Amino acid sequence: MNPIKRIKGTQDILPEDSPKWTALEETIRKTMALFNYKEIRTPVFELTDLFARGIGELTDIVSKEMYTFQDRSKKSITLKPEMTAPVMRAYIENNLQAKSQITKLFYISPLFRQENPQAGRLRQFHQFGAEFIGAGSPEADAETISLALAIFKSIGLKGLELNINTVGDAESRVPYKKILQDFFNDEIKTPSDEVKRRIENNPLRVLDSKDPQLEEIIERAPKLIDHLNETSAQHYQTVKNILKAQDISFIEDTTLVRGLDYYTHTVYEITSSWLGAQNAICGGGRYDLLGQEISGKPIPAVGFAAGIERVLMALASQDGQIAEPRQLDAFIIALGDDAVNAAQSWLMKLRNAGFTSDTDFLKRSMKAQFREANRQQAKFVLILGENELAQNLFAIKNMESGEQQDVSFDQAIEFLKTLN
Ligand code: HAM
Repeated sequence: MNPIKRIKGTQDILPEDSPKWTALEETIRKTMALFNYKEIRTPVFELTDLFARGIGELTDIVSKEMYTFQDRSKKSITLKPEMTAPVMRAYIENNLQAKSQITKLFYISPLFRQENPQAGRLRQFHQFGAEFIGAGSPEADAETISLALAIFKSIGLKGLELNINTVGDAESRVPYKKILQDFFNDEIKTPSDEVKRRIENNPLRVLDSKDPQLEEIIERAPKLIDHLNETSAQHYQTVKNILKAQDISFIEDTTLVRGLDYYTHTVYEITSSWLGAQNAICGGGRYDLLGQEISGKPIPAVGFAAGIERVLMALASQDGQIAEPRQLDAFIIALGDDAVNAAQSWLMKLRNAGFTSDTDFLKRSMKAQFREANRQQAKFVLILGENELAQNLFAIKNMESGEQQDVSFDQAIEFLKTLN
């Protein structure tokens, strides 16, 4: 029989790796708290319309990458490919604006996109991110950027580059779309059906086409930065001023448009020089149009999301240690049935006293149990044989120094506390 394997593009996070995940998650939670962001968790699946309308029908995510299926009641359901639309849906549905005009949220979540798997590109991956809802000010944009960078700094990530751009507000985009449409219609002689559809409905989406034949044309395409209205230009300038005042270095990349339709004004991406082709570890921007798509009401908002797998890969390749594997404090070696019984109650006493502890559950030889204690990197081994049991004591061995001494049962916990 062929054993069942995991689905392509998914990963098991094994015990040797999970301490890194936990440590990263702890740092994220700590930094989010410093910046006053509160956690939100949303369902793994949503109605397909949320993403189709929110992210945009013509984006790669919606047109090619979503895991969409019909449930038994014939509703179209999608495994969430990103968190911004679900967070905005939850914000509106739960009337969070009634509690406070500004709502600052963060999340850590699995996501699903049917992309071609490669290093750093998965079909189930994880993001952490933050969404600042309720303020349209450039200060809010800058705060999300400094928050993302603060998290990367606290885990020791190096070699980062912050790229920023503006995609303007809706008003700036109307004349620009026309200019872009005319340009592409003139320049692209034999467009594919998809490109034709994009030119007609949303020419900005041609700008993130990966077709190599369009590369040169896209490079020459008119830039939105040259067609901004006063409000958009002012907004962008203020964001840059705040970043400069905070000593945050950035590169202005006028080709950065990001692959989701909901963006307005500031967009940004953070890349790592420690990664290969998939070098974007974080992407974000302002998305004042998303609330409107979902509820009909405009809601100013800005945020980012970072790929956890990519962050951990970058950290591993720069040799950053985010977490040591956890060590066991105490391992009880029990020999003989009575000692095995006694070991069970002692395990509970040790654990109640705060020592991570374990024992052998296979009644193996002393040698095999020592090997197990070593494998678990136990700091202390408590040996309990017939003799020790008869005298109400343990032979306690300090595995680091190799020293061993007899300690009576009533003093065992205190003794370990002095050593630990
Ligand atoms: P995104 O650029 O699609 O933006 O994703 C953000 C990050 O998630 C990427 O920079 C990358 O690190 C990671 N990522 C994306 N796809 C994959 C994949 N297939 N495998 C591994 N990692 C991946 C968003 O999702 C927006 N919701 C960000 C945002 C929040 N904008 C405003 N608020």
